[in-house]
Amino acid sequence: MLVDRHGRKINYLRLAVTDRCNLRCFYCMPEQGLDWLSRSELMSYEEMLHISQVMLHMGIEKIRITGGEPFVRKDFMPFLSKLSQLQGLQQLTLTTNGVLTAPFVPELKKIGIHSVNLSLDTLDPNRFFAITRRDVLPSVLETLEALLQHGIEVKINAVVMEGKNTEDILPLVELTKSHPVSVRFIEEMPFNGGESHYTSLAWDHFRILEKIKEQYPAITKTIDPPHSTSYNYQIPGHKGSVGIIAAYTRSFCGTCNRIRLTPQGELKTCLYGDSVLNVKDLMRSGMPLQQLQLALSQAISLKEKDGWEAEKNSQSLHTSMASIGG
Ligand code: GTP
Ligand code: 5AD
Ligand code: SF4
Repeated sequence: MLVDRHGRKINYLRLAVTDRCNLRCFYCMPEQGLDWLSRSELMSYEEMLHISQVMLHMGIEKIRITGGEPFVRKDFMPFLSKLSQLQGLQQLTLTTNGVLTAPFVPELKKIGIHSVNLSLDTLDPNRFFAITRRDVLPSVLETLEALLQHGIEVKINAVVMEGKNTEDILPLVELTKSHPVSVRFIEEMPFNGGESHYTSLAWDHFRILEKIKEQYPAITKTIDPPHSTSYNYQIPGHKGSVGIIAAYTRSFCGTCNRIRLTPQGELKTCLYGDSVLNVKDLMRSGMPLQQLQLALSQAISLKEKDGWEAEKNSQSLHTSMASIGG
C-alpha cells in the first residue's frame, strides 16, 4: 500500500501518454501548439507498461490515461489493451477529446474500460470552432453516441468560459434528460500554455449552479463518491446527472489519492508544482527494481499537504494542461 506522510492512501495514477493534441482549445494551449516533445523524450509504451506494473504492485489500483489526446499517439489502442491486462488493475479509465475515438469504442468495451471522460464544451459547431480552433464537432458527437450505444459510462467535461459557451450550459444539462451521462461543468483554470488572457474566474461553481437552477429549480444534491472531483446533482426524472468541478476555487488536497506521470516520465505528486522524480531517466539508467520502488515510495510519501495553497500565485499555473496530463 502507498501512503503519504499525511496518511493519505495513494491508489490512483494519471498517466499522460502524449503532450500532442489534434485540437487547440484556447484554455489549454496557444494556436501554434506547444513545443512538442520528441519521441525519445517520451516514455515508450514498454516503459509505461513496466512502470505501471511496478506501481500496481506497490498499491495503485486505478489508472486514468490522459494527454494531450491519447489517440493521436501511434498504436495507442494496442498499448491500452496490454495495460488493461496488468495484474492488480481494478479500474482503467480514459480522458479523450473524442475526435479520433469513435472507431475504437467497440475495442474499449472489449478490454473492459471502466469509463470515459469526454471533453465537450459546446454542442454548437460555431462555438466549438471558436473554442477548439478545429471544425470537428460531428466526430466528437459520433464518439458520444458510440459510447452510449456500447453502454460505456460517460462523463462529459465542459469548461465554462465567459463569452464562449455559457449559452451551452442548459443544452448540455438537457443531455442528461434522456441519456445516462454525467455532464460536469469545470471552472476554468490558468493552465493554458502561457497565454495571458486568463485574468480572473468569471464563472465559479456557485454561479454555474445558479444558472442551472434558473431552469431546473428542483435540482438536488446527491452524495459525492469518495475522491470525487465534482459536486454532484440530479434533476428529478433525468436519466443522467450533473456535476460541477470547482477546479479553481476549491482545493482537492485533503482527500487527494492521486499521482501523475507526465508524458516525459516525470512523477508529479500534485497537479500544481514541479516534478519530484524523473522515472523514465531512472528506468533508462538501469536502476534495479528495489531501488526504483524505494525512490518511488519516498517521493510519494513526501506528497505536499496542500499544493494548491502553495502554488496558487506561481508561474507553473500557466503550463499547458496537455503537458501535465490534466
Ligand atoms: P475521475 O477519475 O472520475 O475522478 O476523473 P477526474 O474528474 O479527476 O478526471 P478528468 O481527467 O476528467 O478531469 C476533470 C477535471 O478535473 C480537469 O479539469 C482536471 O484538471 C481537474 N482535476 C483533476 N485532478 C485534479 C486535481 O488534483 N486538482 C484540481 N484542482 N483539479 C483536478
Ligand atoms: N481549465 C480547466 N480545465 C481544463 N482542461 C484543460 N485545460 C483546462 C483549464 N485551463 C480540462 C479539459 C479536459 C480535462 C482533462 O481538463 O477540458 O476535459
Ligand atoms: Fe487537446 Fe484537451 Fe488541451 Fe483541448 S483541452 S487542446 S482537447 S489536450
